[in-house]
Amino acid sequence: MNGALLEVRGLRVEFDGFRAIDGVDLTVEQGELRFLIGPNGAGKTTLIDVITGLTRPAAGSVRFEGWDLVGRREHEIVRMGVGRTFQTSVVFEQLTVTENLDLAASFRRPLWALARRRRGVSEAVDAAMRTTGLTELAGRPAGVLSHGQRQWLEIGMLIAQRPRLLLLDEPVAGMSGEERVRTGELLTEIAKDHTVIVIEHDMDFLRRYASQVTVLHEGKVLVEGSVEQVRADPRVQEVYLGRRAEPGTDAGAGPGPAGGPAEAPDAGPVVGTSVGEGM
Ligand SMILES: Nc1ncnc2c1ncn2[C@@H]1O[C@H](COP(=O)(O)OP(=O)(O)OP(=O)(O)O)[C@@H](O)[C@H]1O
Ligand SMILES: [Mg+2]
Repeated sequence: MNGALLEVRGLRVEFDGFRAIDGVDLTVEQGELRFLIGPNGAGKTTLIDVITGLTRPAAGSVRFEGWDLVGRREHEIVRMGVGRTFQTSVVFEQLTVTENLDLAASFRRPLWALARRRRGVSEAVDAAMRTTGLTELAGRPAGVLSHGQRQWLEIGMLIAQRPRLLLLDEPVAGMSGEERVRTGELLTEIAKDHTVIVIEHDMDFLRRYASQVTVLHEGKVLVEGSVEQVRADPRVQEVYLGRRAEPGTDAGAGPGPAGGPAEAPDAGPVVGTSVGEGM
């Protein structure tokens, strides 16, 4: 392994000739909590899809601990230590919290371990339960959990697989303010012993919990840096704010930047918060 945990180079993804990712380089060091932001359609989810083997790139490489992930199957990449959540929930509603965690943990468990399992809850499951604060809900079916609790269960299911790299796609979407705070604390906790990449739109959330941020726009890396650098960057303000840019910038002129009409719903919290404010 040569330094970085994840190295993406010259990545290009095409859907019927449309370049969803168009020449992305991304380096994430061991132990980082990296935020990935960008308007709707910027290519954030597609980037995670490529890293996790769901989508094959037209060009470029993805190295994890020095190994090229391109061309590997999804389950192989999970076994190598890369775990992800999806934009939509994937818990088993009829199973309890413990059963969901146990099932997730078993994906990476070698066969011999499966054969001797079930002497109580495994250590990985127990740890995931404690980290996510779900211990009191252990025996409840996942179907009765609140939206926030489901998200934490999904994150717990990831941790139970003992990944070295976690990729979280909009974990706080649809959460209440209180749930967001708990999630931020959870991410901070997880980042102590994992490398984490989080896709998020909410600028308030970033301001509180992010250090390094990568901004994607139209399949390219627009800016990369600290939250302060990113927030102060006029290109980011233009892409995110369009007509609602800071006074004194000219980004207000056009009918909205390249993100176009699709930008509206998800980008809401960011626009509402104003990227440049409070600096
Ligand atoms: N399977 C696919 N087939 C065709 N086009 C796709 C496919 N997946 C994604 N795209 C397109 O690629 C672009 C990037 O999509 P992606 O889902 O990566 O964006 P995103 O940054 O995650 O956006 P959002 O914030 O809405 O989740 C979009 O224009 C999208 O319509
Ligand atoms: Mg997405």
